[in-house]
Amino acid sequence: MMRARHMAFPVTPERAEAWLACMSAALEEIGVDEPLRSFVIQRLSGPAHHFVNTESSTND
Ligand code: HEM
Repeated sequence: MMRARHMAFPVTPERAEAWLACMSAALEEIGVDEPLRSFVIQRLSGPAHHFVNTESSTND
């Protein structure tokens, strides 16, 4: 299960958002244009937030 694979790492809400921002930048870099890019990010937002396993940290 993908969430379990992430349990060894502290994933905060901010880190989930950072992951999504990196993915969006990567999609842009390889030429995935709107509206497809937003659609892909929207579909990945669910799992990214599902993997959150740690409260917000002031270090993020
Ligand atoms: C939809 C969102 C995400 C997807 C599809 C995804 C996918 C994956 C996959 C396929 C792996 C490899 C798992 C394995 O080895 O069995 C992985 C590992 C990992 N993910 Fe994610 N991930 C997501 C979100 C995140 C987020 C939000 C974080 C934290 C910021 C994160 C941090 C990591 C780390 C630290 C690893 C381990 C890397 C390593 O083995 O060196 N992931 N992820």
